[in-house]
Amino acid sequence: MTEITLFPQPGQIEVKSGRFTINRHTRIFAADSAIGELLAEYLRPATGFGLPVHPLNDDILADARNAILLAPGADGADEGYRLEVEPGRALLSASGPAGLLHGLQTIRQLLPQQILSSDVVEDLEWTLPAVSISDKPAFGWRGLHLDVGRHMFPLAFIKKFIDMLAFYKFNIFHWHLTEDQGWRIEIKNYPRLTEVGGQRAETALPGNPHQYDGLPHGGFYTQAEAREVVAYAAERGITVVPEIELPGHAVAALAAYPELGCLGEGYQVRRNWGIADDIFCAGKDGVFTFLKAVLSEVLELFPSTYIHIGGDEAPKVRWEACPACQARIQAEGLADEHELQSWFIRHIEAWLNERGRNLLGWDEILEGGLAPKATVMSWRGSEGGIAAANAGHDVVMTPNTYCYLDYYQSEGTDSEPPAISAILPLKQVWQYEVIPKQIAADKRHHILGGQGNIWTEYMPNSDHVEYMTFPRAIAIADVLWHHPDERDYDALVARLERHLPALDIMGVNYRPLSD
Ligand code: ACM
Ligand code: ZN
Repeated sequence: MTEITLFPQPGQIEVKSGRFTINRHTRIFAADSAIGELLAEYLRPATGFGLPVHPLNDDILADARNAILLAPGADGADEGYRLEVEPGRALLSASGPAGLLHGLQTIRQLLPQQILSSDVVEDLEWTLPAVSISDKPAFGWRGLHLDVGRHMFPLAFIKKFIDMLAFYKFNIFHWHLTEDQGWRIEIKNYPRLTEVGGQRAETALPGNPHQYDGLPHGGFYTQAEAREVVAYAAERGITVVPEIELPGHAVAALAAYPELGCLGEGYQVRRNWGIADDIFCAGKDGVFTFLKAVLSEVLELFPSTYIHIGGDEAPKVRWEACPACQARIQAEGLADEHELQSWFIRHIEAWLNERGRNLLGWDEILEGGLAPKATVMSWRGSEGGIAAANAGHDVVMTPNTYCYLDYYQSEGTDSEPPAISAILPLKQVWQYEVIPKQIAADKRHHILGGQGNIWTEYMPNSDHVEYMTFPRAIAIADVLWHHPDERDYDALVARLERHLPALDIMGVNYRPLSD
């Protein structure tokens, strides 16, 4: 029997006898030509075949041979698909484009791994095993986050990252675009955000927060590039969720426009890590004029229903001493600075909701009272997610204890590149239970899913991001899609041993399997 290794593991798979060989005469028939063309594009580099894509009709669906058929299906499950491979043909069907796109990734993984090569591979038979697969995801939110504020990565890498998300059937790319250390998205109405806020003078050295590398670091994505990323992701079934941090993690913005802070002057794009006291002032009306103007441009770029507004790690010391913030507390009848933060977030939420968008924020948005329709991203363990779900709010579970891919991958930290001082080996990621037991049965539907988060303080280049991301993100993908009841680690490792050469072929710098 053919050994088949797929990540994520499909829900149902039956292996049959025989194989279907794709050759230069194979034709692709697709009801949706864009998806057919994407399949042809996936197959072209390694095979050298330029397989033609034709429209599909009922006769072809019934009779075509030496064909890959991409068909609308009756299966109503969101993102689900069926794949029937027989010796003469492969039939992929799904009720919508998302399912078909996931099915394409299954086809890629069923072929010899060399299909992933970007150069022609000679003298290889491109065969698919005969299988019957019926598959759908356990969770609707399957995300990977990437912080481009701490370090800037080239557009080509952002696309490669999206390719990898698609390969593992993630459907959300959470793009963390603004930080204390860098503002990375062009805003036409506020050019200094990227001119000033997009650059820092130098960067703290790992392990010594008061020594610096002396090297300027910066860059940003133009709006045209952001649109390109959104379109590239959408073609692969992925929604880009932008994150614009407020009220904290805003020092780069304050360096560009000092009047937006409580002190009104003296800000520099941060050169070291950690939590800054300086945050957007909650008392000055101009801050809200600014944020709405910024978010207006962000909404134009990103069609995502969810807009992430950060909300984490916002110290209150400046607000405590700021006359404008204190006046706001008085005027709005608020009890304290936590309620002021809650007021701030509610204000932004109402504005987003009027524009048909949903506010998503880190679990600190629970403090001082959660905005009425907010979705919570639970990161400080699961507590925030449990509280929010039990209060009837939607939640994305990204507990740092299982999902923070910036943590060391091994207890043997001396032999690893510098990372944040916490440890999260693959073995622990594999134990990730997306829905905590403390969530009442009738509230479990509020858990939309989960994601891995990649904070890049200690990842100065894309090779390093890949090293931290893989293979741990593959385990997260498996949990979010397949959600196995049994988490046999040895079995995971055995599957990964067979699978990881695929990443070598794709030129992905993953961490080898070892403790
Ligand atoms: C976070 O890790 N500060 C959300
Ligand atoms: Zn203030």
